[in-house]
Amino acid sequence: MEKILESISREVVRAFEENGYDGKYGKATLSNRPDLCEFQCNGAMAAAKEYKCAPFAIADRVAESLKGNGMFESAESVKPGFLNLKLDPGYLAGYLQEMEKDQERLGCGKCRDPKTILIDYGGPNVAKPLHVGHLRSAIIGESVKRIGKFLGHTMIGDVHLGDWGLQMGLIITELRQRKPELPYFQEDHEGEYPKEAPFTISELEEIYPAASTRSKEDEAYKEAAMQATYELQHGRRGYQALLRHILDVSVSDLKRNYENLNVSFELWKGESDAQPYIPDMVQKMKDGGFAHISDGALVVDVKEETDTKEIPPCMILKSDGASLYNTTDLATIVWRMQDYCPDEIIYVVDKRQELYFTQVFRCARKTGLVKPETELRFLGFGTMNGKDGKPFKTRDGGVMRLEYLLSGINEEMYKKISDNHTVEEEEGRKTAKIVALSAIKYGDLSNQASKDYIFDIDRFTSFEGNTGPYILYTIVRMKSILKKYREARALPQEAKILPAHSESEKALMLEIVKFNGVMESAFEELAPHKVCAYVYDVANAFNHFYHETKILAEEDEGVQAGYIKLLGLAKRVMEICIDVLGFEAPDRM
Ligand code: ARG
Repeated sequence: MEKILESISREVVRAFEENGYDGKYGKATLSNRPDLCEFQCNGAMAAAKEYKCAPFAIADRVAESLKGNGMFESAESVKPGFLNLKLDPGYLAGYLQEMEKDQERLGCGKCRDPKTILIDYGGPNVAKPLHVGHLRSAIIGESVKRIGKFLGHTMIGDVHLGDWGLQMGLIITELRQRKPELPYFQEDHEGEYPKEAPFTISELEEIYPAASTRSKEDEAYKEAAMQATYELQHGRRGYQALLRHILDVSVSDLKRNYENLNVSFELWKGESDAQPYIPDMVQKMKDGGFAHISDGALVVDVKEETDTKEIPPCMILKSDGASLYNTTDLATIVWRMQDYCPDEIIYVVDKRQELYFTQVFRCARKTGLVKPETELRFLGFGTMNGKDGKPFKTRDGGVMRLEYLLSGINEEMYKKISDNHTVEEEEGRKTAKIVALSAIKYGDLSNQASKDYIFDIDRFTSFEGNTGPYILYTIVRMKSILKKYREARALPQEAKILPAHSESEKALMLEIVKFNGVMESAFEELAPHKVCAYVYDVANAFNHFYHETKILAEEDEGVQAGYIKLLGLAKRVMEICIDVLGFEAPDRM
């Protein structure tokens, strides 16, 4: 369906043109004075300059032309030259009726030129437990992916595991100290290695920090870890078999954790998958004359004339020939282009890596790893802070494991729900989990991604205010009204959304019509917070309407059926919104 602002603008443009003015002045916007009007057009102010006459005179003529136009209840010119518009209630009801007919998409058409978009998010590191730092990437990336899918793009999520580098050498070294008899460490071992991993996930999670601590105190140990890393990266069989085990054990644990977050990935590729592409890529960079030696290292210059700050060269290989984090990211672009040929790659990563990605993107472009038209976008997010304004930590100052964070919030939510009313333990736990997830995700997504925010669990879990639980509570209220209505009678075949009977009903309708516009701009700007702000507005408008309207006690059956239709549409709008945000609503709470 055409966006409501487009439909309105079309009429206003025509009215400008009818009076001999350029149509470009006819763009309508949402009103910034909702007390006076619903939409407005300020074009007469600008047109006045071109046509050298008073803006009011122009606005007045345009308003005159709009009289009798069925789309508007009123079109008024006001001094000094604004055009104030109110939609005709019948027109508005008709628009909603169209939306309602399309239960699947509510009139939000798929985009005209669907793209293939690869989205790099999650970014967990193997063998290190998921901690809250990885939460934002997962939550934001998942939502952007879902919004893109809803608009008809082919979205491919890649978790981009951190599975390469010293951390692997550290684990191997520690394991070797503990169990030197394992076949992975026998240089003369021929044949297969065991199928079972020689550790569990909890052991692995204990091994890595132990190794990391020790390497900081023990120089020889660190040397050994570096040597192990080198041998692993240069094909030592036993170590590669161990790497497989580490990956398998880690990945199944990660999958379980992400599942609890309602986050899933199309691809489970990692940094290690990029390694085979490095030699060729480096050769091409040399052959193309892009890479040169600087202080022994191989670098590509990426500064541009228009830079206002220093953008250092992109280092491809260290002086000892070792590759780096960026080498991996560049080589990852190579296989992504080769296997998926995406129109766009989006990276959802901590904003402190912004400069780094500027270098990587420029280098990829300059050296021809991507096509000139391939878009590379960085969606950087801010830090999740505790109430003290510092990065979120456990009470004793440690890094908070995601699992503990989640189970703590689930528990708190369960208490809240079972305090409110009596529920069976099992149902209560299930509901608590759903509501808790909404609290965390909405708490995060409702902030503009690039901003730091305070993880305030008391506020996030509240059933009132701009929170996930409030949104769910509103949907649950809608479900319960629908259920009661249906228990009493069936919805008549001819039921229709009727022109608003009250201010509050019209206000709700005016929120609902924004749906397709919000989805589009949320995706264009990679801004899930826009969906949050919208769903919150719809919830508020609905609750206001609900408090002022006796829906179930309405005596006129047609009017009542119209309310129910409107309610059903509002519910569907909210459900699609929370679905793209990555959570769902329970039936009761
Ligand atoms: N593993 C990295 C970290 O924990 C994040 C990876 C981000 N993605 C990327 N393509 N570099 O910081």
